[in-house]
Amino acid sequence: MNLKQQAARRALEYVENGMTLGLGSGSTTNYFIDLLGGKVKAGELTGIRATPTSEATAQRARRWGIPLTNLGEHPNLDLAVDGADEVDPALNLIKGLGRAALREKIVESHAKRFVVIVDESKIVERLGRGPLPVEIVQFEHKTHIRWLETLGCRAELWLEEDGSPVVTDNGNYLALCWFEEGIADAYELALTLSTHPGIVEHGLFLDMATDVVVAGADGIHELK
Ligand code: A5P
Repeated sequence: MNLKQQAARRALEYVENGMTLGLGSGSTTNYFIDLLGGKVKAGELTGIRATPTSEATAQRARRWGIPLTNLGEHPNLDLAVDGADEVDPALNLIKGLGRAALREKIVESHAKRFVVIVDESKIVERLGRGPLPVEIVQFEHKTHIRWLETLGCRAELWLEEDGSPVVTDNGNYLALCWFEEGIADAYELALTLSTHPGIVEHGLFLDMATDVVVAGADGIHELK
């Protein structure tokens, strides 16, 4: 079992019968969905329903017969489980390299408990070791990217291998922002990003995670 799978397996211990869940997106969460789906299918977990954070997650959950819902029907989630690209010592996160940060943030902000599952490579001292994904509207996207560069990063439009822009489940484009020295003040940056026209959402998930399950070579650590 690889480290991502080990973290996913530990997160399953947080799930109880009758819970309404938020299901994240990405490869680590896929392991979680498969483990959860196995238990649901075997009747070992009952009364579970889940709100997915991407079309891909919805499809995967459906294949296992996990009943799906949405925030309209069930606005209060008992538990959300998702991966992350970076986790800092305060349990602040960068997410979105799975292209689903907007829906993840919407769903996970409705969860009483938000458990993040990562392998140890995702732990950083300061956020911004890798790129920060930012969802932008297609209209005048070059202007949004130029504005992002004024924030002290190198920003680029995220492209598919064939050179076409990546389009999210919401029909938007994504920019990747590289901060050479990391992100100096994630709270200030989050505020700046969230008030600029054309910027839909960003991958800074601050003060959201309640628990982080980290799988490493020396075992599993749970950060609270
Ligand atoms: C999806 O948009 C992301 O937020 C993922 O949770 C994140 O990119 C981690 O992905 P992996 O689990 O594939 O490493």
